[in-house]
Amino acid sequence: MGKKTKKSSREFGLEVAAICGKHFFKLDHLHYGYWGNGLEVGIANLHRAQERYTDFLISHIPKGVETVLDVGCGEGYIAKRLVDKGYKVDCVSPSPFLSERARELLGAGSRIYECGYEELETTERYDMAMFSESFQYIGLAEALAQTVRFVNDGGYLLICDVFKADTNASGVMGGGHKLRRFYDRIGRYPFELVEDIDITEQTAPNMDILDDALKNVVQPVLDSGVSFLGGRYPLMTKFLRWKYRRRIEKLNDKYFNGGRRSEDFKKYKTYRFFLYEKVRGGEGRRGLRSIRG
Ligand SMILES: C[S@@+](CC[C@H](N)C(=O)[O-])C[C@H]1O[C@@H](n2cnc3c(N)ncnc32)[C@H](O)[C@@H]1O
Repeated sequence: MGKKTKKSSREFGLEVAAICGKHFFKLDHLHYGYWGNGLEVGIANLHRAQERYTDFLISHIPKGVETVLDVGCGEGYIAKRLVDKGYKVDCVSPSPFLSERARELLGAGSRIYECGYEELETTERYDMAMFSESFQYIGLAEALAQTVRFVNDGGYLLICDVFKADTNASGVMGGGHKLRRFYDRIGRYPFELVEDIDITEQTAPNMDILDDALKNVVQPVLDSGVSFLGGRYPLMTKFLRWKYRRRIEKLNDKYFNGGRRSEDFKKYKTYRFFLYEKVRGGEGRRGLRSIRG
């Protein structure tokens, strides 16, 4: 199992989200919230919506599962909920910062493999591999091939994540494998579909919260900083704005010029819950339920 040394900007972003989310909004999780059923959409309710998402996930874990590999565990809060329910949970986490927090939360009962899933080597086998908003960060072929190795026959693959919808347009929001490619790929591995649930409607409102924060907090703070620097160091500010004009334009297009609201999300993305069962070649469906009676 190799250890990653260089921190990617994505990893840095997740760490900042973990620190700010916890400090300012008491958020434990790094995943979207699950809205609906009268819960008012707003940052003040995000922690509740995130707990609902976790409840939704846990309620779909099949009977018979006892051991879980939480791939991309964040700070370990879903794993902790599972441990408290009696599951034995190990985690994969490439981020030293998030791994340390997960270790503190989970204690010695859970092993944290501090590496990317692609690099994981272990002799352990699990009843279920779970990807809660981490599947998009891992190459499709690597994620599926590794899961075939580490999940027992009759075990499960659970994915809850954003995918790119089946449309030729792409919008400004990044993230997610193409859904069509995913369906095509998974057909090459020994997995049988148990559940495919579209929760785009329940997760899209998160984009309105993020868009509001970008427009009403991040952008004004940046503008104010630039104007402050412009007043103090006019020549240097002018030069930097010219030198990085393309990058600034790109960032503006991506984050501040619209295209990131819930309706855009519904157009270009699809948020899916997938549960697959790992079947043994030629033997048809043999779930843990049937194996363990
Ligand atoms: C959006 S967070 C989700 C965290 C947590 N599962 C949750 O639902 O709150 C994405 C997670 O994927 C992890 N991750 C990113 N690249 C990964 C990789 N190559 N292998 C395993 N985990 C990865 C990150 O470290 C982070 O913990």
